[in-house]
Amino acid sequence: MRAPLPRGPVSAQVLSWLKGRVAPDVPHVRRLLQEPSADIICDEDRQLTLWTLYELHYTGFDDIGAGWEWSPECLAVRRVLETEFEHHMRASTRDTVRAVCARAGGVAERLFALVLEDDSPSLGRYIQRQADRSEAVEFLIHRSIYNLKEADAHTWAIPRLTGAAKVALVELQYDEYGTGNLDRLHSQMFADTLRACGLDSSVGAYIDEVPAVTLSLNNGLTMFGLHRRLTAAAMGHLAAFEASSSQPSRQVARGLRRLGFPEPAAAYFDEHVEADAVHEQVATRNICEVLVTQDPRRSEDVFFGAAAGIYLDARVAGYVLNAWATGRSALLPELPAPDVLGA
Ligand SMILES: [Fe+2]
Ligand SMILES: [Fe+2]
Repeated sequence: MRAPLPRGPVSAQVLSWLKGRVAPDVPHVRRLLQEPSADIICDEDRQLTLWTLYELHYTGFDDIGAGWEWSPECLAVRRVLETEFEHHMRASTRDTVRAVCARAGGVAERLFALVLEDDSPSLGRYIQRQADRSEAVEFLIHRSIYNLKEADAHTWAIPRLTGAAKVALVELQYDEYGTGNLDRLHSQMFADTLRACGLDSSVGAYIDEVPAVTLSLNNGLTMFGLHRRLTAAAMGHLAAFEASSSQPSRQVARGLRRLGFPEPAAAYFDEHVEADAVHEQVATRNICEVLVTQDPRRSEDVFFGAAAGIYLDARVAGYVLNAWATGRSALLPELPAPDVLGA
């Protein structure tokens, strides 16, 4: 994948470093980030910068050297962005987390209740009943940012878990990674869906078209995966993610068939109706419940990760449905050429 286009002064600066055009200047970027964002979730410049820095830990970019992954300058900028982003996620979920912590019942039951009580707008229902073909295509483009590297961020938790929770996470991820069969690798199945719908299935093909809110969903997950102190949040996120997947997957599969996309387009979503009905049990009971039994202090972060995942999902759904309701695209208009921003 090629590096993305910058979206503002911070991403322009950082991309210039990464491409070797200017020497890293952390104090300058810190000054650019001094004023807090009006809305970090929809801040194109900050979310794109964070996404780019995080991508260095996945498969990276063809036009950026792998040596940048652990550069102190990149980590310093990451830290400023992550601090603001985590603060926002914690503040936005504080009441929910407090309420679920105070509730009686087991960890799994409380996680299921959290998902069930979420009354945010449903993209799955819209795709099933109302979306036209161009909206369905936009939906797949938004999803491509995560689904083409599906499960990878949660995998970072494996060496940080012990005992039964580790065994259960490996069991779940083995399924996500195709149980030894490339055709069943979930990211590969999603690539098949994209191709069946006439879309580009290469990783990052649509990065310049996807708005900050969708990058924030991915960044939240990567943040949980990369920080050992947030491992319990990563597993809470996984539990909420799996427990809120089966029903929307069924809805999207029906929507794609209603719209007449070729049959292979729905296969990825069909697979998740069945698979995630099992995964939600593994994630809530065999991972999160066990984690909290091993160390009860982890319960708050398990619920924080779950609530944050639900919150970010709701922000994406709200953004996309609002755009469509007002007759607009939920993708970005064409970005300016890099030299306009000096990257
Ligand atoms: Fe999956
Ligand atoms: Fe799953």
